[in-house]
Amino acid sequence: QKGAFSHFMLKEIHEQVESVVNTMRGRINFDDRRVVLGGLRSQLANIRRSRRLIFIACGTSYHSCVATRALFAELTELPVSVELASTFLDEQMPVFRDDCCLYVSQSGETKDTLLALQYCKERGALCLGVTNTVGSTISRETHCGVHINAGPEISVASTKAYTSQFIALTMIALQLSDDNYAKLPRRNEVIDGLFNLSNDIKKTLALEPQLKTLSKEEFGTDKSANLILIGRGFQTATVLEGALKIKEVSYIHAEGINAGELKHGPLALIDEKMPIIMVMPKDRHYSDSENALKQITARYGKPVVICNDDDDSSNFSGLKTIRVPRTVDALQAIINVVPLQILSYFMATDRSFDPDSPRNLAKSVTTA
Ligand code: UD1
Ligand code: BG6
Ligand code: NA
Repeated sequence: QKGAFSHFMLKEIHEQVESVVNTMRGRINFDDRRVVLGGLRSQLANIRRSRRLIFIACGTSYHSCVATRALFAELTELPVSVELASTFLDEQMPVFRDDCCLYVSQSGETKDTLLALQYCKERGALCLGVTNTVGSTISRETHCGVHINAGPEISVASTKAYTSQFIALTMIALQLSDDNYAKLPRRNEVIDGLFNLSNDIKKTLALEPQLKTLSKEEFGTDKSANLILIGRGFQTATVLEGALKIKEVSYIHAEGINAGELKHGPLALIDEKMPIIMVMPKDRHYSDSENALKQITARYGKPVVICNDDDDSSNFSGLKTIRVPRTVDALQAIINVVPLQILSYFMATDRSFDPDSPRNLAKSVTTA
């Protein structure tokens, strides 16, 4: 089943070249740049009429919501909030009939997410599912939704489901905004980016040998048992998800930090010994990231930088870089998470841990 791969995690990382295509198959026509999600057809008008959108999920699925929220708000012009299912219930959030709640779950069986779904349904909200498992409880219990069609995911650490959730959410935003003519140029740009995505992922996977070496040289067992990942804007989700992957499979204390928050506390952690990964693609946050990088290097931090392959600036002299293909700003996080998935895999196997079944974790948490 694992074929040429020693673990499902690595197999599923590589499968992303195809799984991202499967998520879009039959739903995006790249010739006329049209998006049609069959699962939303019956409720499209109601979703557009809703007063706000609330994304609710756990773990990696939550990060796919964080990753797509900005584009969602930009295209739909609706207020969008992103909530952890457990927090949502703890706080007994107010929910109304004109709310649209969107549940993202790979398994479709996560108990916390399911309880939040029941809570919102009782209050009359319109409930959408984004699930990978046809026939799952969340797929059945939601009023409508989108199956991400990523194929079965075996490894506990979620990889291909994340990128497919990201694409499914992006497609929903594209579908909801296709009646807004003013958004046409932006929609077309994103659709063209989606067209090239599989190829961009393939190029990124070719970094594997470099990442294997980096894992040993920069994040080996002799280094600190901590790791800080820093990014902002569209990359906030990337650093959160990268940190989660690293925690899950290598048991290193990794933390994803928004670069904008650096000076409000985390800067105190930076010294010459703290392992750091900085994610800074060429987007509208680039000059802010340059400032963050300067603050880090001024404290003798030596981050490994994930940047675009066309970035010819002199920002990274003396630093190691991971150079990834450039895509549309709102999709760049799909590409940028891939080297972090691969790195976390090698950080686990370098320590002789089995990345497919990390200690204390279950693929699907069906208790609250
Ligand atoms: C559907 C078929 C697909 C077929 C395609 C052809 C299924 C599962 N999918 O895909 O095999 O190739 O038509 O046009 O038979 N739903 C929820 N909650 C969720 C996810 C989905 O309620 O979390 C609902 C949808 O609203 C929809 C149904 O499940 O009614 C199927 O969803 P989806 O597979 O995404 O629909 P299509 O892409 O149209
Ligand atoms: C568990 C898994 O905690 O549930 C995570 O170990 C996963 O990998 C999370 O992200 C949410 O799962 P699901 O199936 O609702 O996406
Ligand atoms: Na349903």
